[in-house]
Amino acid sequence: MKIVLAYSGGLDTSVILRWLKQTYEAEVIAFCADLGQEEELQGLEAKAQKLGASKCIIEDLTREFVSDYVYPMIRAGAIYENQYLLGTSIARPLIAKKQVEIARREGADYLAHGATAKGNDQVRFELAYAALAPDLKVISPWREWNFKGREDLIAFAQKQGIEIPVSREKPYSMDRNILHISYESGVLEDPWQEPPQDLFRLTKNPEEAPDCPEIIELEFEKGNCVGINGEKKEPVEILRSLNALGSRHGIGRVDIVENRFVGIKSRGVYECPGGTILHFAHRQIETLTLDREVMHLRDSLIPKYSELIYNGFWFSPERYFLQSAFDQSQHFVSGVVRLKLYKGHLTTLGRKSPYSLYNPKLATMESDQGAYDPKDATGFIRLNSLRLRTIASSQQGK
Ligand code: ARG
Ligand code: SIN
Repeated sequence: MKIVLAYSGGLDTSVILRWLKQTYEAEVIAFCADLGQEEELQGLEAKAQKLGASKCIIEDLTREFVSDYVYPMIRAGAIYENQYLLGTSIARPLIAKKQVEIARREGADYLAHGATAKGNDQVRFELAYAALAPDLKVISPWREWNFKGREDLIAFAQKQGIEIPVSREKPYSMDRNILHISYESGVLEDPWQEPPQDLFRLTKNPEEAPDCPEIIELEFEKGNCVGINGEKKEPVEILRSLNALGSRHGIGRVDIVENRFVGIKSRGVYECPGGTILHFAHRQIETLTLDREVMHLRDSLIPKYSELIYNGFWFSPERYFLQSAFDQSQHFVSGVVRLKLYKGHLTTLGRKSPYSLYNPKLATMESDQGAYDPKDATGFIRLNSLRLRTIASSQQGK
């Protein structure tokens, strides 16, 4: 028996690694996806080996993550329940996909993950496994073992001589990648309780952000951000630069109560500096370049698309279907947006596009020299109001 475990080096997956090996007497391959989470990868390989992994594979997936997962999601304007930019949700399918690839390469027949039994992540991992490798078997330790909670895990770790990460106290459940960081549980479980200020790791407190605003220009091509301040960059570099800018100006903090797929309401705090700027700027360039009907129809589909990502249906026919429609809408979403970053806020200062549908001749309040015949509006309103007048006169006084 050979298992590929999605391993992060944290308490849960460390305990899981040892537990899998002992419970199943299996060979365990630890796989760690580098999605730009930065500091958390140091010393991981040695740690995994100490826990009993036959191998520890660390793959840098940051480039693929941003280009093939984050960017398509930004092109679609995705946002869950109007607030959450899906930073964890979008990472899971890629981790699962690589895990499957490794299982194939290594001849493993099992996949395992460390997501709890109450959350979204278990669903996301396992829906992706099902879509990509229905023949592989899945082990979800949190649904199988007898540990009741983290206390039990810590006790097990101590008994087994497993190092518990103590470098910096982590009273929250966190998930970090190049797009965002999430915080859940601990004191955050009380939705009335404000998050402690020392929780935030990626962004400056907006109140302490610079008094001097910063102005940036973002260039878009077909819905993708391709340049900052006149300089062309790859998606990863764009996101890194925007993270630095957003971080400095306290942009992208969100504190919400969200609906998990399994039916639980959960309080989450997020920092998504660069992603927030991208999401905002993308919509600004669309205001010039998207046709009204396309925009309104597309907007009506954003909640559905976002729910698909949140619920773990990235590799589903309905997500592919919506993605191709969204991508088709982006053909002329090109141009430049000028933004001001200031104490947690984003303001649009200007936008321009070679494909602008904005026609100053039509929009002007001054004489338009016959571009638009005001008399046409009379008939337009008369016909649009026909029903309303009929209703009003037939129902008068009733
Ligand atoms: N609630 C968010 C989501 O469902 C964040 C989940 C964080 N996951 C984690 N393993 N810490 O996408
Ligand atoms: C977990 O349950 O492992 C994290 C939270 C979630 O998946 O929603």
